[in-house]
Amino acid sequence: MRKIELKLIGKHYEISIGDKLTRQINNFIEAKNYSKVVFLLDVNILSLYGKRMQYLVKDHEIITVPGGEENKTLEQLSYVLNQMVEKKLDRNSALVVIGGGVIGDLGALAASIYMRGISVIQIPTTLLSQVDSSVGGKTAINFGGIKNIIGTFHQPDAVFVDTSFLKTLTKQDILSGIGEIIKYGFIMDESFIDYLKGHMDTLLQMEPTVLEHVIYESIRYKALVVSADETESDYRKILNFGHTIGHGIELLEDMGLSHGQAVAAGMIYESIIAYDRSLIDKEYLGEITDLCGKVVTLKAFTDNEKENILQSLSHDKKNEGDSINMVLPVARGQVKVIDRINKEEIYDSFRSVL
Ligand SMILES: NC(=O)c1ccc[n+]([C@@H]2O[C@H](COP(=O)([O-])OP(=O)(O)OC[C@H]3O[C@@H](n4cnc5c(N)ncnc54)[C@H](O)[C@@H]3O)[C@@H](O)[C@H]2O)c1
Repeated sequence: MRKIELKLIGKHYEISIGDKLTRQINNFIEAKNYSKVVFLLDVNILSLYGKRMQYLVKDHEIITVPGGEENKTLEQLSYVLNQMVEKKLDRNSALVVIGGGVIGDLGALAASIYMRGISVIQIPTTLLSQVDSSVGGKTAINFGGIKNIIGTFHQPDAVFVDTSFLKTLTKQDILSGIGEIIKYGFIMDESFIDYLKGHMDTLLQMEPTVLEHVIYESIRYKALVVSADETESDYRKILNFGHTIGHGIELLEDMGLSHGQAVAAGMIYESIIAYDRSLIDKEYLGEITDLCGKVVTLKAFTDNEKENILQSLSHDKKNEGDSINMVLPVARGQVKVIDRINKEEIYDSFRSVL
C-alpha cells in the first residue's frame, strides 16, 4: 500500500492506494472513535461486492443509492439526508461513502450540510473517482439542468483507493477515468504526456503495474494542486481544463458520453480555440487530439446541440459576469485561465469534426 498526504491549512489527510484495503479501512474507522458510522453504498457495489461489503460494513447501518449522473439530484440528496436523520447520526458521526464519483459528490455534500458538517470517508470504486473526484473536497449535485451548480467544499477524513474494485468496470467507465488521467499531463507535466503515449495500449488493458503507476501519479498531481489552492481561488482552476465545454457535452443525452469522455471531448475543442488564438502549434494540437481520441470518438453536433452547449457555458462557475473564461493550453504540459472567450470562437471550434 502507498500513501499520499494532502496537506491543507487546518486539516490534512491521507490517501491510501492499494489492492484490497478492507483491513486498513476497518482499522482507521475503529481508531477514529466516531460516535456512529453509517455507510452510503452505490447499489451496484453492493450487488457486485456483497461479501466484501459484509466485512467492511460489519454491524453498521447502510444507506443505498444508485450511481449514474441522472441520480446526482436534489431528490437523492434529500433521500440521503432523511436517512441520516432517521439513523440518528450526530455531530461526531461519520458517513463512509463507497461508490463512483456520483455517490462520492452526493454523499460528501450530504455530510457537509448535515448538522453543519460531519466527517466523511471516501472509498472510490471507479477509475475516475479514484484519480480525481474523491480527492480535494469538492461536493456537488446537478440542479435545474446545470451541472454541479449546488455544492460545497468539504474535505474527507481519509480516502482509500482500493484498485481491486476496478475489475468490474465497463469499458466506458475505464475510458472515462483515462480521460481525467490524460488531463494531468496536459495541465502540469509534459513527461506524463510522454508516459501515457508510450503506455496507452497497456493502460487501456488495465495492466496492473501501469494502472497503479498512473493512479498514484494522478492523485499526486491532484493533491499538489489542491494543497496549493484548496477553494479554487486561482491555481486550482487548471483542473477544469476540458470541463467548460465538456460539461455542456456531458449533459447532451443523445451523445451518451461519460464524464471523463466528455472532458476529453472538451479538451479537444478548448485546444482548437487555443490553436485558433495561436497559443499552441498544430503539432501539439494533434498530440492532444490523438491522446483524447483514445477515449472519445467525436461526432458532429447538430445546431440544437451546439446551442445547448453554449447555453451551459453561461452557467460556468469560472465566469465573471458575462465574460466566458476557459482554461486553455499555452504550451506542452501547461495551461492558463484565459478570459473573454467569445461565443463565435467556441462555435468555430466545433468545425473540426465535420
Ligand atoms: N468532486 C470532484 O472534484 C469531481 C471531479 C471529477 C468528476 N466528478 C464527478 O464525478 C462524476 C462521475 O463519476 P463516475 O464516472 O465514477 O460516475 P458514477 O458514480 O455514476 O459511476 C459510473 C457507473 O459505475 C458504477 N460503478 C461504480 N463502481 C463500480 C465498480 N467498481 N464496478 C462496476 N461498476 C461500478 C456506478 O454504479 C455507475 O453506474 C460526475 O458527476 C462528475 O461531475 C467530481
